[in-house]
Amino acid sequence: MQVLIAYDSVSSAKLTAKVAEAIAQTLREEGLEVISAPVGDARQLHVEEFDCLLIGSPTMAWAPTKPTKEFLDGLKGRNFAGKFAASFDTQIRSIISGNANRALESKLKGLGYTIAHPHLQVYVRSENKVYGMVEGEMEKVTAWARALAKDLIKASVP
Ligand SMILES: Cc1cc2nc3c(=O)[nH]c(=O)nc-3n(C[C@H](O)[C@H](O)[C@H](O)COP(=O)(O)O)c2cc1C
Repeated sequence: MQVLIAYDSVSSAKLTAKVAEAIAQTLREEGLEVISAPVGDARQLHVEEFDCLLIGSPTMAWAPTKPTKEFLDGLKGRNFAGKFAASFDTQIRSIISGNANRALESKLKGLGYTIAHPHLQVYVRSENKVYGMVEGEMEKVTAWARALAKDLIKASVP
C-alpha cells in the first residue's frame, strides 16, 4: 500500500512538517510505502495513484491554510473511488481555536475518498509568538499513525 503525505507548514518551527515526518516514519516501520511532501511539491504527483492520501495543515484563522485548500481543490475531477484518506492538523488548545480538520475531511469526502481513520489534532503552544509542540503530543502522533496503519492494512486485505 502506497501512502502520500501532503502537508503545509508555515511557522519557523515547522511543527506540522515534524508531525508529517513522524507519521511517515511510523507508517514505514509498519511496512507501508510512504512519500511525504509539502503541498506545493505534492501537486506535481499523480495523487490518484496512491492508495491513501494523508493531508495535514496548521490551523490558521480557524481553517486550513490557503495552499492546503488549493492543493485539495486542484484534485477535483480525478477518480479517488476506493482510495483512502485521513487528515491531521496543528492547533492551539483553546475553545476558540477552531480546527483545520473539519474542512479537510469535508474536502476529502467531496473528492470521493473513504476516510480511513478519524482525524488527528495536534496541540501546539505559543510563547512570545514562538511555536512549540505541547508535551506528549508526538507520542499521540505515533500512536495515531500505528492505529491508522492497522486500519489501512486491514482494509487492503481482500
Ligand atoms: C496568522 C495566524 C493565524 C492562526 N490562527 C489560528 C487559529 O485560528 N486557531 C489555532 O488553533 N491556531 C492558530 N494559529 C496557530 C497555528 O495553528 C500554529 O502557528 C501552527 O499550528 C504551527 O504549525 P507550523 O509550524 O506547521 O506552521 C495561527 C497562527 C498564525 C500565525
